[in-house]
Amino acid sequence: MLFTRRKSPPLYRSSEPLVAKQAAPFSSSRKHSSLLSIFAVVLSALLLATFIYNIQPAKSTQDLPVDLPTPTQAHTANTSIIAKTPAAAEVVEKTFVGVPASCDLFSGEWVYDNVTRPFYREEACEFLTAQVTCMRNGRADDTYQNWRWQPRDCTIPEFDARLMLEKLRGKRLMFVGDSLNRNQWESMVCLVQSVIPPGKKTLIKNGSFNIFRAEDYDATVEFYWAPFLVESNSDDPTKHSILERIIMPESIEKHGKNWLGVDFLIFNTYIWWMNTITMKVLRGSFDGGSTEYEEIDRPVAYERVLRTWAKWVDENVDPKQTMVFFMSMSPLHIKSEDWDNPKGIKCALETMPVLNRRQPLFVGTDWRLFYAAAKTIGSMRSAVGLVNITALSELRKDAHTSVHTIRQGKMLTPKQQAEPALYADCIHWCLPGLPDTWNHFLYARIISGSFSKISTL
Ligand SMILES: *[C@@H]1O[C@H](CO)[C@@H](O)[C@H](O)[C@H]1NC(C)=O
Ligand SMILES: *[C@@H]1O[C@H](CO)[C@@H](O)[C@H](O)[C@H]1NC(C)=O
Ligand SMILES: *[C@@H]1O[C@H](CO)[C@@H](O)[C@H](O)[C@H]1NC(C)=O
Ligand SMILES: *[C@@H]1O[C@H](CO)[C@@H](O)[C@H](O)[C@H]1NC(C)=O
Repeated sequence: MLFTRRKSPPLYRSSEPLVAKQAAPFSSSRKHSSLLSIFAVVLSALLLATFIYNIQPAKSTQDLPVDLPTPTQAHTANTSIIAKTPAAAEVVEKTFVGVPASCDLFSGEWVYDNVTRPFYREEACEFLTAQVTCMRNGRADDTYQNWRWQPRDCTIPEFDARLMLEKLRGKRLMFVGDSLNRNQWESMVCLVQSVIPPGKKTLIKNGSFNIFRAEDYDATVEFYWAPFLVESNSDDPTKHSILERIIMPESIEKHGKNWLGVDFLIFNTYIWWMNTITMKVLRGSFDGGSTEYEEIDRPVAYERVLRTWAKWVDENVDPKQTMVFFMSMSPLHIKSEDWDNPKGIKCALETMPVLNRRQPLFVGTDWRLFYAAAKTIGSMRSAVGLVNITALSELRKDAHTSVHTIRQGKMLTPKQQAEPALYADCIHWCLPGLPDTWNHFLYARIISGSFSKISTL
């Protein structure tokens, strides 16, 4: 295993990336894969017929090995129905409108599309924080907003904020994790808020929670700060810039009690693992005043944490009520040689994605953590959607906030902006931008409600 330590600027010392050579090719537990693909073909045909001729899917679909929503007797599929009454909500609930569960959403390409992208306009979303409003913060190019992810084998229906809000009616959706999940939470708020009139939406920050509420829908889109998912010394939602990060890999209850009963849970954890090769694991407990720790290899500690998380999900989540997702790692773009631009400065000068690349791209992602997540999720009793955003996001060197952002709560000064080698943030993403696409994947699965028996999305 080869590790290359990188020189990193003061700002992001805390998230210094390490290069890990790619491990063995991923093999997931695709138990139903061949059945599924046959099924997918049959299903697509049926759905097509259903949509075109407005007829009911054949009864025989009920014998197939995946839980699909059953079509209602009286109403047939109509993807454009927006529920206004409880009865209509039933129709939406039971109508298959997404993409087939078998479609691999993550293999595909970035397509330039300035007609349907961005999903919303930066100035139209009052909830965006200064961390992500790159144009307002002085970014000159806006092409990064105009890339649409096109899966190879299917097309995700366009994001329909009203339909999404119907799915959230009376429910809670919660992102749990680090600042990248907060980045994605901001995106989700913007994606849904556009159709809610002023005065009917609020955002409050309260301790570890950020809560957006859509009043008329009695729905919330929330973010909960837990950068390692398990208990750590970095859990304070505001004062967490701790260099000596220490975790308790088997302790999750303190956070987990805040996730109980939530209808959609979206987890992540990655960036906080990346500043050291090993992870510090506490002997004893913070409450008991312990300060001694041992240092454990990153992937070993990561897997221990994910096993704790998986056990929590298996024991506390009711699969009939709750959909659970796990976001794979959000990649960094620190070294422009990685994408053959020796004249670049980190991600700061990038205005285009990596397109038409023949060889694999290595931007320092620790893929061992991806395999640990896939393995853990594959062994769970619960169905968890692994949202495989890593490789497709590695192509988006153009999409980071770079110097058009804040640092420790303050906008970068022109002088700092002129020094990207020191100050560019090549971890977080501009909004509108890449995280909108990640949410589009969640949307596809949430509106179709149909990944219940497979473990990778
Ligand atoms: C689908 O629903 C919309 C809105 O309710 C309606 O205008 C349209 O005619 C319906 N289409 C079909 C095929 O039923
Ligand atoms: C994740 O997506 C990438 C393409 O974006 C694909 O090459 C890879 O096989 C996928 N991994 C899994 C586990 O599905
Ligand atoms: C979209 O891109 C095309 C091709 O670059 C350009 O001709 C057109 O003016 C653009 N449209 C908008 C709305 O920016
Ligand atoms: C903030 O959270 C605390 C504890 O969960 C709760 O008691 C309080 O009412 C909340 N405040 C607001 C403004 O929601």
